[in-house]
Amino acid sequence: MYKIAVLPGDGIGAEIVPEAIKALQAIGSKFGHQFQFTEALIGGAAYDAGGHPLPDSTLELCRSSDAVLLGAIGGPKWDSLPVHLRPEVGALLPLRKELGLYANLRPCMLFPSLIHASTLKDEVISGVDLMVIRELTGGLYFGEKSREKTADGGQKATDILSYSTFEIERIARFAYEVARKRRRKLCSVDKANVLESSRLWRETVTAMAPDYPDVETSHMYVDNCSMQLIRNPRQFDVIVTENMFGDILTDEASMLTGSIGMLPSASIGGQVGLYEPSHGSAPDIAGQQKANPLATILSAAMMLRYSFNLEEEARAIESAVQQIMAEGYRTPDLMEAGQTMVNTTQMGDLVEQKILA
Ligand code: IPM
Ligand code: MG
Repeated sequence: MYKIAVLPGDGIGAEIVPEAIKALQAIGSKFGHQFQFTEALIGGAAYDAGGHPLPDSTLELCRSSDAVLLGAIGGPKWDSLPVHLRPEVGALLPLRKELGLYANLRPCMLFPSLIHASTLKDEVISGVDLMVIRELTGGLYFGEKSREKTADGGQKATDILSYSTFEIERIARFAYEVARKRRRKLCSVDKANVLESSRLWRETVTAMAPDYPDVETSHMYVDNCSMQLIRNPRQFDVIVTENMFGDILTDEASMLTGSIGMLPSASIGGQVGLYEPSHGSAPDIAGQQKANPLATILSAAMMLRYSFNLEEEARAIESAVQQIMAEGYRTPDLMEAGQTMVNTTQMGDLVEQKILA
């Protein structure tokens, strides 16, 4: 029996998470596994209910589960709260930190039937298969933050970007191991021409490279990487990078797959893995059944793979999604002429039926 903490969160979270649960239940009945789902509040929903975006009971539930399935958090309603109560800084970041999830995996794989859905040319994206490994518990997101008043009546705001050798080695080692199971190419992305933290990053990865002679190591500045991702994305296999660079590059990379609604993520490194779509809570379409649940469903597949070591089951979800795409079913974010438009629940039903078929 696998215990899964379910945190729908805010916005479209409440619509997409049930679809991923349906997919997992279908896997359970097809392959004979038992999944136990326990729901808890997080983000704005938790703040509204009890005054804090990350209640202790939610954190406890996550700690005592085998994996966590998260929807999305945040929205305009909570944007003006004091920063420590905002869903992002008050809930998501501490949850990642508390669970020790230093490695965030965001795979970008093109579903062949979606090749025309991307804003990029077919010949650029055909065959894209890359994995961004984003350091998730350090860097700019977690450095000291401060505000002070200045003599001219204005203010000065500071965010510190720091990394230790330990943190860099830990994520780089992780990335090398992932690269070894793929096409054995690792591109470490930094801004070593300007930032001291990036110089330590590059020195550290450079010093580790001889330990992985079977993996081809390269280094790239983040601005160049952002350009190369749309110029020639096929050059990449595994990218490893700092927290904020990874945040930015993965939104960009998601467009290689046609929609950010297709990009799953896994955050691992601690006792309990966290699985969430790479997109946000999309308040503009929340409650309208327009959201694409596939990033969350594909995140559930990553849960099967990385937390439960159920590779065949993970592939069953991925191939169900592949087939449904090939059959032409699309949520509005991917809709093109000649396809069949479905809503959030209908897309989830299709995945469920395909798994059970
Ligand atoms: C992501 C999101 C989060 C992040 C936000 C919601 C805090 O953009 O998971 O990429 O910046 O990490
Ligand atoms: Mg992001």
